[in-house]
Amino acid sequence: MSTTIEPQSEKHAMGVRMKRKEDPRFLQGRGRYVDDIVLPRMLHLSIVHSPYPHARVVKIDKTAALASPGVVAVLTGEDLAAHGLAWIPTFHGYDKQMVLAVGKVLYQYQEVAGVIATSREAAVDGAELVDVEYEPLEPLVSPFEAMKDENVIREDREAKTNHIYHWEVGKREQADAALASSDVHVQQRVYFQRCHPAPLEPCGGIADMDGATGRLTLYMTSQAPHAHRTVVSLVTGIPEDKIHVISPDIGGGFGNKVPVYAGYVVAAAASVVLGVPVKWIETRTENLTTTGFARDYHMDVEIGATKEGKVTALKVKTVADHGAFDAAADPTKYPAGLFGIVTGAYDFPTAFTELDAYFTNKAPGGIAYRCSFRVTEASYAIERGMDILARKIGLDAAELRKKNFIGKEQFPYPSPLGFVYDSGDYATTLNKALDTIGYAELRREQAEKRARGELMGIGISTFTEVVGAGPSKHFDIMGIKMFDSAEIRVHPTGSAILRAGTKSQGQGHETTWAQIAAEELGLDPQNIMVEEGDTDTAPYGLGTYASRSTPVAGAAIAMASRKIREKAKKIAAHLLEASEDDVEWADYKFRVKGVPDNAVTMQQVAFAAYTNPAPDTEPGLEAAYYYDPPNLTFPYGAYVAVVDVDKETGFVKVRRFLAIDDCGTVINPMVVEGQIHGGLTEGFAIAFMQEIRYDESGNHLNTNFTEYLVPTSLETPGWETGNTITPSPHHPIGAKGVGESPNVGSPAAFVNAVMDALAPLGVTHVDMPLTREKVWRAIREAEAAKANGVPA
Ligand code: CDP
Repeated sequence: MSTTIEPQSEKHAMGVRMKRKEDPRFLQGRGRYVDDIVLPRMLHLSIVHSPYPHARVVKIDKTAALASPGVVAVLTGEDLAAHGLAWIPTFHGYDKQMVLAVGKVLYQYQEVAGVIATSREAAVDGAELVDVEYEPLEPLVSPFEAMKDENVIREDREAKTNHIYHWEVGKREQADAALASSDVHVQQRVYFQRCHPAPLEPCGGIADMDGATGRLTLYMTSQAPHAHRTVVSLVTGIPEDKIHVISPDIGGGFGNKVPVYAGYVVAAAASVVLGVPVKWIETRTENLTTTGFARDYHMDVEIGATKEGKVTALKVKTVADHGAFDAAADPTKYPAGLFGIVTGAYDFPTAFTELDAYFTNKAPGGIAYRCSFRVTEASYAIERGMDILARKIGLDAAELRKKNFIGKEQFPYPSPLGFVYDSGDYATTLNKALDTIGYAELRREQAEKRARGELMGIGISTFTEVVGAGPSKHFDIMGIKMFDSAEIRVHPTGSAILRAGTKSQGQGHETTWAQIAAEELGLDPQNIMVEEGDTDTAPYGLGTYASRSTPVAGAAIAMASRKIREKAKKIAAHLLEASEDDVEWADYKFRVKGVPDNAVTMQQVAFAAYTNPAPDTEPGLEAAYYYDPPNLTFPYGAYVAVVDVDKETGFVKVRRFLAIDDCGTVINPMVVEGQIHGGLTEGFAIAFMQEIRYDESGNHLNTNFTEYLVPTSLETPGWETGNTITPSPHHPIGAKGVGESPNVGSPAAFVNAVMDALAPLGVTHVDMPLTREKVWRAIREAEAAKANGVPA
């Protein structure tokens, strides 16, 4: 066997449009999702749901279900109570949620019993035979009714109120005084409707308790496998080494796969009791009706400004509908997530925001749907507010924004609501967007069309985000600090395995994580295998949601690589027969300073690490790094939507949509474009199509995809994209998160465009989703008002 290795040809890996390494298996239908896993002797779980939104559970009769062919067991809340599992903590720590109903049901479709059978079909048939007697109670559907406390729905809590918490930040008196003395003052209630991430693959899991080893293996659609392992251990008392969580391929998460759901717990309890694996796979209806919803924020936005359009103060007061349990997976210190970003990209001298959250008889959630914990709601509020202000003052929406942007020389910028923005150059990004789309020409076209009575609108959104939770001094979930991790082992021949505490659900980590390590180590990204989602092998991390992966785990990968480079340098010095001080890392090689030809590659060093390490050097080449970010990152963008609205039908045609994003250093432009396309499509759906609705009796009205609409390629506009690059100064490779930017920034751009189109009719605001019917109604009402002499 040869003991030397020839230098490989190096090329850099960052910023390269590398094809996704994971795609061949997905495109060939060879992904391995939870439902693809079949274990010997495996049973199946089907859940019985409540038809009532609010009712006492008087009696549950299992007899008929147990007699049904194939049914092995029926579990109820009382059965779980015997094992201390009737209630579990929500991720928010201070609230808890029922696993299966005990005493009462608090929302329609709440889980009431679990039927375990030899096949999925037998379990479903058995579930239909569970006889539950209910005594219906008055439901509370609106948070504005809930706040009256005439009917308190959570009898399990000591506090006899529907009020969950009050949260505020900023200077109330100062903001009030500034608003009162401002030349111009605008005020608007905007509702960010309840919507749902609706991932392609619903949630599911298999629990497999091995009676011989006492080890519980949980295959889960989990965005945060390690956090779930810890929670399972804390709740059940099973030592953490006896719990193995495996997240295989996941078909989309978007925050929906962060919370712990009843199905996981019932499957685990059943597996422990029965000693065989139990699988639970949700139906689409179960996913839409019982798993984490998003948004549901009623926001009163007030902005003060001078008559020239310089903002003087912002105040936002929110009423939040959290459903039956406070299951929002927010960091402990931030009950309203990172809503404090509501001052956006603008230099407000003062600001204040407060929020009150309430329980209602609706499904719990409040998850960060492609959003860094309520950043989407905040961005929507400020971007709508700025447009309404522009209209009131009579200033162009782009001009007003430019007048108020935080200047690039103001970074690091301490915002009046407590964040320190790391970097940004908002004006340059907006100018690029305006130039690219031909803004001046579009405004000319609009003026001509308006003169002809046609409704054309141009909407802008210049949002900024706050992602990368987060610095351990401020961020934890149930006490666990929100660092993340990477572990890299370089093999003797220069290929490597990289494991991280994150878990991709379609974001392409197998590719981009390899690119970061390859860039830092001078190795071939094709030969760096990335593995995530197995708690037995991956280092502990808090998982993937809220665009935290690149800011936190991406940094950990760079830092672990640099640790490897430090050790590799010693070995390189040994190979080059030079002192370590005389060796430098340049051009993806170690070389002797001043003698560039005297060089060795990382691949050669790796081989030496196992065959010829330097004297006194530990053999092998690997490192782990747990990264605690010093700050959050603040990606941002300038989006422009152009719409034509049909006056007769209310139909909105999105003619163009341009997204210029800035996420600092880009690891893979093609992956970023993919993220932007996907997120814009979701933002489009939220703006025009999607709302989880309940009727006055608490009935859930969108239980499938014929009622909760998901856009196909036929409805989806063509997306135009571009970028600017303003690196994060504190991130090792200058990268910021990007996955959620399009979902955060686009709803406001769409709505601003439609409101701009309707402006000549005197319409100021219509809440999302802007369905054809709603737009039609707004036009008719505006026309009727005009006809009655009400001024626009
Ligand atoms: O946490 P999550 O993976 O959902 O979001 P992210 O950190 O924004 O990353 C989404 C995908 O975009 C990952 O594959 C990233 O590596 C990639 N990305 C990139 O190529 N360049 C950036 N500056 C940010 C993200």
